[in-house]
Amino acid sequence: MAGNRENEVVEVQEELMEIALKRNFLMPSNEIYGHTAGFYDYGVVGAAMKRKIENAWRELFLWREGFYEIESASVLPEPVLKASGHVDNFGDAMVQCRKCKTRVRADKLIEEVTKQKAEGMKPAEMDALIKEKGIKCGKCGGQYGEVVWFNLMFQTSIGAGEAEKGYLRPETAQGIFTDFPRIFRALGAKLPLGVGQIGKSFRNEIAPRQALMRLREFTQMELEYFFNSAEAKHPHFAEVREKRVRVRTAEMQQMEGGAGTVGSGETGVREFSCSELVEKKIVPNEIVAYFMHRTSQFYEAVGLKREKFWFRQLLPNEMPHYSKGNFDVEVESGYGVVELMGLAYRTDFDLASHAKASSQDLSVHLEGVGRIMPHVVEPSFGVDRLFWAILEQGYRKGGGAEKRDWAWFDFPPIVAPFDACIFPLMKKDGLAEKAELVARELRHEGLSVYYDESGSIGKRYARADEIGVPYCITFDYESMEKGSVTIRYRNDGRQERVPIKGLGEKIRQLILDAKTSL
Ligand code: GLY
Repeated sequence: MAGNRENEVVEVQEELMEIALKRNFLMPSNEIYGHTAGFYDYGVVGAAMKRKIENAWRELFLWREGFYEIESASVLPEPVLKASGHVDNFGDAMVQCRKCKTRVRADKLIEEVTKQKAEGMKPAEMDALIKEKGIKCGKCGGQYGEVVWFNLMFQTSIGAGEAEKGYLRPETAQGIFTDFPRIFRALGAKLPLGVGQIGKSFRNEIAPRQALMRLREFTQMELEYFFNSAEAKHPHFAEVREKRVRVRTAEMQQMEGGAGTVGSGETGVREFSCSELVEKKIVPNEIVAYFMHRTSQFYEAVGLKREKFWFRQLLPNEMPHYSKGNFDVEVESGYGVVELMGLAYRTDFDLASHAKASSQDLSVHLEGVGRIMPHVVEPSFGVDRLFWAILEQGYRKGGGAEKRDWAWFDFPPIVAPFDACIFPLMKKDGLAEKAELVARELRHEGLSVYYDESGSIGKRYARADEIGVPYCITFDYESMEKGSVTIRYRNDGRQERVPIKGLGEKIRQLILDAKTSL
């Protein structure tokens, strides 16, 4: 990246964080005690927006598919995570500077210095590489010690006395696997079956950084799709056959630069139809291709530009321990190329491992088929990085039709923190009371509405733009006489006058149509 562009990107990230803090999108957790890295709180604006992102996911991945959502425990006893492989495999290689004691992830260190992918290398290989290349501490220039393995789970104890060892869950998925037999029976003992969960997961990252990009407590949206592997078909694949998704296959990466080049971004991304992915055996089955389309559709709906994200097929040495085929979605961000989600063919690894460890039969009986162990395809999304990516891509420094001298966000209405703002033109002459009544009615109709009566109307429009609210409704003197209000559209600043009767329905339709200009 050229020097100028690099400075510009850093500046934009800083500006964005300043707005995020000022307008209560985000807050550093426990700030009054000094912020502990790796934790962020969502403020009133951020939490409202995060719920909308989560609901957009529910809509596309659960509700439209006829799938279900559970809420399982966050603290898991050790045997669960021993069986899942996390106790033995879930970690990073770490290296510590002998002089200043700074700890860093060994793979990230190597990638930064050599620009070659190091994820998946063994600790001993990384150790040799750091010595061979003479890599020194980025902070103080000191010598690094040995590369050691560090398990990323937060350990805790369950109960007093002879306490049982437990961990905060590193993924929401495990609760879905351990609850599977009851869910399966409760829902009529049929496959395929989709079960999702949105919740917090915890990973004790060695070097959390870049705000929301690497958190120690974060939110996941995960779907586990259980199916009979003898029929690895998706019942609605015909709907997506011709849909196109953007992919960097393993072969393309290997041709570009051996083990895959870091930060090569869009280079080598190609459009494939879902049927082509299946026919060329790039994906292990139709189910994976089906969810690739759904995933693209979701990201575009919540505000990511199609040209800024793609699926990257993981190379064999990068695959998680449970996977027989994995794709990550990567996005171009001010922090470089970052991973947003993983789509994994987990086979029957989890159910089979839990069956063995718990001595319970987790296989199922299917009418006309007999007993089988279901296989699983898992689309697993992180919410926090996505939240930041939406902020980055929606950010406008100013300008636009009104030549604004204020920053604003071009969010799709479905994820904007509030559906609308409502303002009385003036506080006096009973306008404020009447405007508040309109706000109340809209809230009763299920819309999220922010009421604001302070400062000039221009300042209030600017404040609404600054948190990306798509519609500003103003109650003025004509409203008193004629029962109408104005709607100002965020992107072009133009206004139309509409009757108060039916206003809720009108706003709802504008949101559905994603209309942001008159
Ligand atoms: N369940 C997959 C992950 O957390 O990465």
